[in-house]
Amino acid sequence: MAFAERHLLGLEGMGAEAITSILDSAASFKEISDRDIKKVPALRGKTVINLFYENSTRTRTSFEIAAKRLSADTVNISESSSSASKGETLVDTARNLEAMRPDAIVLRHSMSGAAHLLARHVSCPIINAGDGCHEHPSQALLDLLTIRERRGAIAGLTVAIVGDLLHSRVGRSNLHGLRALGATVRVVGPPTLVPREFAALGAEVHTRLVDGVRDADVVMMLRVQRERMGANFFPSLDEYSHYYCLTEEVVRLAKPQVIILHPGPMNRGLEISSAVADGPYSVIMNQVTNGVAVRMALLYLLIARSKAEDAAELEAATDAPVVRGRSGGRA
Ligand code: NCD
Repeated sequence: MAFAERHLLGLEGMGAEAITSILDSAASFKEISDRDIKKVPALRGKTVINLFYENSTRTRTSFEIAAKRLSADTVNISESSSSASKGETLVDTARNLEAMRPDAIVLRHSMSGAAHLLARHVSCPIINAGDGCHEHPSQALLDLLTIRERRGAIAGLTVAIVGDLLHSRVGRSNLHGLRALGATVRVVGPPTLVPREFAALGAEVHTRLVDGVRDADVVMMLRVQRERMGANFFPSLDEYSHYYCLTEEVVRLAKPQVIILHPGPMNRGLEISSAVADGPYSVIMNQVTNGVAVRMALLYLLIARSKAEDAAELEAATDAPVVRGRSGGRA
């Protein structure tokens, strides 16, 4: 089934065909960002709200640029500028925003499940831009696009995801996506930071960095998320970097054409050395570029589809054909 959901809440349970259709669509949107005039009218007259309750550089900017390149209007709300600071609940905030008729809400929240909660209470498409330690589907999709571009296909690759998997929504979404597309996934980190459930989700669990990286086609480093750690998960930062920092020496154990990913923000010298982050195998900046294309595809697919559904419902209710605009929505 091609991607036909009303919301994008996570990659868990999403099949290969749906993921591939999003990646194909993102690949076709990429070229717009290389134009002199980086704008197409696909979402003209549509409104996208970025509701971000956590700090973000890449993801929020990327969604905003993606919406603007499709000619949508964007509104950015951060926790400090929202009424959350006055005690309003997330659902009440979202209901009020929905009453202003946005066409999509992009949500980042520290609570796992926040996007699912909103999807039950508002009818416009919700895009999960990271919910607690749960999922970050648009990041995983841009990672998948980057891997596919570099390696041609994802099926059959061995991908090592290294670091703080316990707190990583990026790692979790990637595990679902990579498994759906047929990659072998290794999760690598100290036992305190690699949940056992990952083995049940089809990952190979490694505690030694060299074992995880050996002969890998792709190495994806994760940030050590100290802000989410309520306890000590390892003795010291020095000890963590001694055992788990990706250095050039470790990279040499991987396949010769290995590519190195990191979702950012990076802790240089803690989980990844600068020589690797800025070195010839790094595709970290390609990930950021691809992020805009993936978010353009997601906004386009979700908004165009929800408008088509609304029109179909109206037609069915009134028995009158609805005049459609070029994007498939009501004119
Ligand atoms: C990630 C996030 O916020 O989950 N960053 C991102 O979106 N680019 C990863 C992280 O914060 O470590």
